[in-house]
Amino acid sequence: MNLKVSLLCSSIQEREALIASLANLPEVEINVHVGDARRLLSVIQKDRPHVVLLNFPTPDPEAFEQIEAATLRVPGVMVLLVSPDASIDLLKSAMEAGVRHILPAPLSKDSVVSAVDYWHKTESLSSRLTDNKGELLAFLNAKGGSGSTFLASNLGYTLAAAGRKVLLVDLNLFFGDMLANVTDRKPGASILDLARQSDLLDAALLESSVLAARENLYVLSAPLFPYHIEILTPKILQKILVLALSHYDFVILDTGRTLDPTTIKALDLSDRIYLVLQLALPAIQNVKRIETVFEGLGYGQNKLHVVVNRYEKNGSIALDELERVTQNKVARTVPASYEAVMASINEGVPLPMLSPRDPVTHLLQAWAADLTPVTLKPKKGWLAALTDGF
Ligand SMILES: Nc1ncnc2c1ncn2[C@@H]1O[C@H](COP(=O)(O)OP(=O)(O)O)[C@@H](O)[C@H]1O
Ligand SMILES: [Mg+2]
Repeated sequence: MNLKVSLLCSSIQEREALIASLANLPEVEINVHVGDARRLLSVIQKDRPHVVLLNFPTPDPEAFEQIEAATLRVPGVMVLLVSPDASIDLLKSAMEAGVRHILPAPLSKDSVVSAVDYWHKTESLSSRLTDNKGELLAFLNAKGGSGSTFLASNLGYTLAAAGRKVLLVDLNLFFGDMLANVTDRKPGASILDLARQSDLLDAALLESSVLAARENLYVLSAPLFPYHIEILTPKILQKILVLALSHYDFVILDTGRTLDPTTIKALDLSDRIYLVLQLALPAIQNVKRIETVFEGLGYGQNKLHVVVNRYEKNGSIALDELERVTQNKVARTVPASYEAVMASINEGVPLPMLSPRDPVTHLLQAWAADLTPVTLKPKKGWLAALTDGF
C-alpha cells in the first residue's frame, strides 16, 4: 500500500521546486498544493491522505483555528507543520490544534522523508499497542491425522459455548476443514478473499468475511481452491490477526503442516502453540525437529504445549518416554473416542453438542476452563432470594 502524503506550499515557485526534487520517492504518493492553513480541510477531504505537511512560515491565531477545525473534522490524518520557529510556544499551540509534530524549514524532500519515517514509526508503535484483548492459539500437528483440526475446532466451540467470542482461522490453505468440523454450512468468503482486499481491511470487512457457525463461534475459512495462496503474505496475515484479536476473545489457528514464512508469522504472534501428536515413533521424531526449529526462532519454553491425542494408558510407548526424548512436559492427553468423534466430524456438529457426556467432551471442557478465568457471580441478597419465583 502506498503512503499518501499531501503537501501545502506557500507559493507556486516553491511547489515547482518541490515537484522537481520529489520524483521517484518509493511507495509514497504525493499531492502538492499551494495554500495556507485555510486550505487544509479541503485538501484533506479531497486527497484523503495519511499525512499532511503544511508549510507554516508565519503563525497567526486564525491559522491554528483552521488547523484545529480540520483535525477535528477528519481525526485520522497526521498533520505536520514545517516551520523556522522551534519555540515551545509554537509547539504548544500547534499540539493544541491537533498537529503531531513540527519539522524544521524549509519544506523540502528531506521534510517529506522525515514525515514518512515519522509516520511509519508511530504506525508500528500503535499497531503493537492496539488493544489485543484476545488470545491467539495455534494448532500444529506432528503428523497428518493426529487430530489437530478436530481439537482446534472443538476447543473453539467449547470456549464459545462458555460465552467467549471465538474466531477459527483456517490457515490450511490446501484442503482446510475447520468449518466442516463445526457446521454443515457452506463457506462464503475465504481468508484469501480477505487478503486480496487487505488495503481496505477494517472491522466491517472482517465481519463480513467470517461465517457464523454457532453461537459466539465464527470461522474465517480456507479457500475452496488453493489458487494464488501467495497473496496471503506474512504482513497481511499479521494485519488480519491483529485486527481479529481486538474483536474476539480467542482466535484459534489451524496451521496445517508447512512452516512457510506466513505460518511462522502466525506462530510468532501466537500466545500458545499446541502441537498435537499420537504416541508413535515418527511423530515423536517430528516433535523433536519442531522443537529445534522453535528454539531457532527464539520461542520460550512455555510457548509450546505438547498434546497427546488418542492416548491409551497401556500403549506401547509411555508418556514419560516421550517427555524424556523431547525434554518437554506433556501439557494434555486426550482419550480416544472413535465413534463419537467420527460422528461429530461426519455430521459437522461439534462433539460437545452431539455427545455431551463423552470423555473427550469432558477433556475439552477442562481445557477451555483452564484458558478462561472463573467469574464469580455476586450472591443474591436475602430479599432477592425470598422473592425468587414470584
Ligand atoms: N480423540 C480422538 N478419538 C478418536 N478419533 C479421533 C480423535 N481425534 C481425532 N480423531 C480422528 O482423527 C482423524 C484426523 O483428525 P484431524 O483433526 O483431521 O487431524 P489433523 O488435522 O491433525 O490432520 C479424524 O477423522 C478424527 O475422526
Ligand atoms: Mg488438519
